[in-house]
Amino acid sequence: MPGARTCSLAARRGLPRAVGAEALAEPPQGPEPRVPGQRAQGLGANGIRLSMESALTARDRVGVQDFVLLENFTSEAAFIENLRKRFKENLIYTYIGSVLVSVNPYKELEIYTKQNMERYRGVSFYEVSPHLYAIADNSYRSLRTERRDQCILISGESGAGKTEATKKILQYYAVTCPASQQVETVKDRLLQSNPVLEAFGNAKTLRNDNSSRFGKYMDVQFDYRGAPVGGHILNYLLEKSRVVHQNHGERNFHIFYQLLEGGEEDLLRRLGLEKNPQQYHYLVKGHCARVSSINDKNEWKIMRRALSVIGFNDSEVEDLLSIVASVLHLGNVQFAADEQGNAQVTTENQIKYLARLLAVDGSVLRDALIHKKIIAKGEELVSPLNLEQAAYARDALAKAVYGRTFSWLVNKVNKSLAYKAKKFPGWRSTTVLGLLDIYGFEVFQHNSFEQFCINYCNEKLQQLFIELTLKSEQEEYESEGIAWEPVQYFNNKIICDLVEEKFKGIISILDEECLRPGDATDTTFLEKLEETVKNHPHFLTHKLADQKTRKSLGREEFRLSHYAGDVTYSVAGFLDKNNDLLFRNLKETMCNSENPIINQCFDRTELTDKKRPETAATQFKNSLSKLMEILMSKEPSYIRCMKPNDAKQADRFDEVLIRHQVKYLGLMENLRVRRAGFAYRRKYEVFLQRYKSLCPETWPTWDGRPYDGVAVLVKHLGYKPEEYKMGRTKIFIRFPKTLFATEDALEVRKQSLATKMQATWRGFYRRKKFLTMKRSAITIQSWWRGTLGRRKAAKRKWAVETIRRFIKGFIYRNHPRCPENEYFLDYIRFSFLMNLKRNLPKNVLDKSWPTPPPSLCEASQLLRRLCMQNMVWTYCKRISPEWKQQLEQKVIASEIFKGKKDNYPQSVPRLFINTRLGREEINTKVLQALENEGLKYAVPVVKYDRKGYKARARQLLLTQSSAIVVEEAKIKQRIDYANLTGISVSSLSDNLFVLHVHCEDNKQKGDVVLQSDHVIETLTKTAILANKINNVNINQGSIKFTVGQGKEGIIDFISGSELLIAKAKNGHLTVVAPRLNSR
Ligand SMILES: Nc1ncnc2c1ncn2[C@@H]1O[C@H](COP(=O)(O)OP(=O)(O)OP(=O)(O)O)[C@@H](O)[C@H]1O
Ligand SMILES: [Mg+2]
Repeated sequence: MPGARTCSLAARRGLPRAVGAEALAEPPQGPEPRVPGQRAQGLGANGIRLSMESALTARDRVGVQDFVLLENFTSEAAFIENLRKRFKENLIYTYIGSVLVSVNPYKELEIYTKQNMERYRGVSFYEVSPHLYAIADNSYRSLRTERRDQCILISGESGAGKTEATKKILQYYAVTCPASQQVETVKDRLLQSNPVLEAFGNAKTLRNDNSSRFGKYMDVQFDYRGAPVGGHILNYLLEKSRVVHQNHGERNFHIFYQLLEGGEEDLLRRLGLEKNPQQYHYLVKGHCARVSSINDKNEWKIMRRALSVIGFNDSEVEDLLSIVASVLHLGNVQFAADEQGNAQVTTENQIKYLARLLAVDGSVLRDALIHKKIIAKGEELVSPLNLEQAAYARDALAKAVYGRTFSWLVNKVNKSLAYKAKKFPGWRSTTVLGLLDIYGFEVFQHNSFEQFCINYCNEKLQQLFIELTLKSEQEEYESEGIAWEPVQYFNNKIICDLVEEKFKGIISILDEECLRPGDATDTTFLEKLEETVKNHPHFLTHKLADQKTRKSLGREEFRLSHYAGDVTYSVAGFLDKNNDLLFRNLKETMCNSENPIINQCFDRTELTDKKRPETAATQFKNSLSKLMEILMSKEPSYIRCMKPNDAKQADRFDEVLIRHQVKYLGLMENLRVRRAGFAYRRKYEVFLQRYKSLCPETWPTWDGRPYDGVAVLVKHLGYKPEEYKMGRTKIFIRFPKTLFATEDALEVRKQSLATKMQATWRGFYRRKKFLTMKRSAITIQSWWRGTLGRRKAAKRKWAVETIRRFIKGFIYRNHPRCPENEYFLDYIRFSFLMNLKRNLPKNVLDKSWPTPPPSLCEASQLLRRLCMQNMVWTYCKRISPEWKQQLEQKVIASEIFKGKKDNYPQSVPRLFINTRLGREEINTKVLQALENEGLKYAVPVVKYDRKGYKARARQLLLTQSSAIVVEEAKIKQRIDYANLTGISVSSLSDNLFVLHVHCEDNKQKGDVVLQSDHVIETLTKTAILANKINNVNINQGSIKFTVGQGKEGIIDFISGSELLIAKAKNGHLTVVAPRLNSR
């Protein structure tokens, strides 16, 4: 088995597989739904019968899905029978522990659908039927959860399905891994690198129509989210000899046929190629340019598309295809011998094409093909080549050009797959999953240097498998002191040593022969081999063999007993192939090429480098040892591929062939160790760390020795003695089911722990936040309080200062301005001005004005005047003409009466109106009579007779030129203003007035004594109209007036309580005017 170790790997990842009854139940491998306990059959798209394995009932028919469950696990027959049963039911995958055994079905099965991928995604290894996807998913999840690099080693002989498995695994990752736009590009490129590398590196062989003729190790880089973000490919030893020669029934690399078959006419014309492969010597050697199973035209399209995805632009594609075409042209270069036997090129046309395609000078190339240049002691020696040598040089050039272009291509792919860390900022370092798809063990009728290398590589991989599984497994049991019966297995280290040992190994001897001076040939190499390793049990030659076996060996051959079987190698060509020589002048020509790819492939430093380049075998050996290091540093998973028959036929199970593969793949040993061992082991510390939460005594920490902790833990978990063993440093658990139970318990526990941790964390987080907030609040508060305090203190200080200055200023207020009082004075001024601003008089009559400080008296006055002027001006601006007239009249009234007549103040607030009598109140006759005079004012008056002082109601009308006394329709008296000599009123509050008339005029009746309720208004208007403002006399005591023809009347005025007008006994008119308070 990969045994306990490999199983432990699965288990260790937390994805253990059930070995109990539950493992017998497999989900359907086809698209049909699963019906438990019932056999279901379905016909897929290809008519393939798909079967379900459901529970135990199906076991007889479809075998067990894990060989560990075989009752007779030591029987090879039972093993093969199980494989056969399953193969018949299209169940091509079976486990041995966690190693997947795959049998090539040679037909399309519907088990690689998207739905199937989803079925395997994130599901425990043991819950689903064996599948590539389960291995892929398991590795992927280990990579994610443990962040440990993984590798999947896919081994098996040529045609067993390694490359197909690799592609399917890549597809699985492409579909199931998290995606983003950048990741999609990477996924695309990862997938598309296959058609390109297969076109250039795969070929039809007798064993496989799409045989990988190079080894490939591909790293897929995943970021922390598990998305593929990059990749890198390492390629191993391309079988270059195929470029110039193919065995019967085999082809050159696919690309040549694809180009001829699929290339557009234009392209072919540019490359100087014809569609027919028969035209090219390099394509006809195997006599099978066309193969029914290969659609070159279609593959060409796929390949061209893939080139674009990888990032080739048109000119790069053209350069690349020019090289491919140049190889075909090189193959057609022919030579003929001249008289001296020196080779001459006979196919000038090819040289022309070559010169163009390789962008070199044609004549230089022609010369280089038929001459050899050697530099001896600093001197160049050029010697002509014979026919054979020229053909060799040509083929060497073709191989070198193709081989190096292939490496360039891999580099180019790598550049396009490179993880562009900058593109994904913030992403942490990546983890890597490696996929190894390397040529399988190969045995042909004629085996040469290539098969030797390929089979050596397989020996190394087998050795790694043994190292990582069988050997280390058993050694571990021993070192841990676990009782254990060792399982016998064949350790192929002895064969590896035979090939690679220093000085004594086959590669060393081959190198020695290649490098030594003198005439070394393939035969001398064989002799040297016989001499050095003749006693090795795995080495045989014709000479060393006994009579019986000698017959099966040619004299030019040696036989190695590989772990996978005997292979007889012909030494012919070993030295040449190992030397891999390209004549200097051909190298020089290529270095001068202007084809950018060739230019990169042939480095000028090669010409000047004196050191001999490493031989092909040594290079291969070194690259393999590096590969082993890479693989050793990763956690491996294994897929062991087998082919069911040599005829590439579906549904044919060749038992002999299968038995052979079961044997050399070491599957029986694999199974035996697996069954004998323990499913799982872990260091005590690690085990305790993982499961300590399941036992109260070990949770959360165990203070004692880890050993004791584990003992307590397993006791608590109820492990039975036969279920586990305690080693020196590790616990070993025999059955997966024990572990599954523990894992399940952990899963449940994790939930509750997670909840608890979440709660604790939330609590902690909130509390932390709260404390931070509290601290912040306190800080803010204290700062604020401080700020407030400081502000208050500053304010107080300022207040004290101000008060002090104020008081001082007050004391010094009467001094001239000095520092002690300047503040006070300024303040006083300021406050006066501010106060003034607030209390300015509201209107012209408002005479209020704040008292100014002494220093501002003058300013105050000026301001006051200004203010008044301003108000007046504003007031005046607002005055209407009517109002102006009113005011003018009021002013005149004021001039006449103010301070002189008692009832004047009462008249002030009362407006003068235009007339006290409307036109309708005046007799029309009067109005007609006065029509031309312009009536200005009319007022009802009382007229006192001049003699009896009888009171009579009259109207006083003022026109432009006279004052007229009217009784009804009669004009009683007309007084022209020219005749109006004066107007008299008393100083008291009565309303009497006398209009003095010029008496010399006989027409005049004399002065008129009238009384008006609006005496001030009436007299003002009269004075204005008659222009007698200065003729209004205000008399104290009495007024004399003329009563016609020189007679006089007197009116006496006295103050009393109420108005009384009557004729006194002395014949005077006495007026008692009420006293008013206003004066
Ligand atoms: N899982 C599969 N389903 C269907 N056909 C398969 C499967 N695996 C392999 N094959 C068939 O077998 C052929 C050979 O497989 P593949 O090329 O993977 O072999 P290989 O092991 O890589 O051989 P080599 O060592 O020569 O490269 C494929 O071309 C395909 O036709
Ligand atoms: Mg392959």
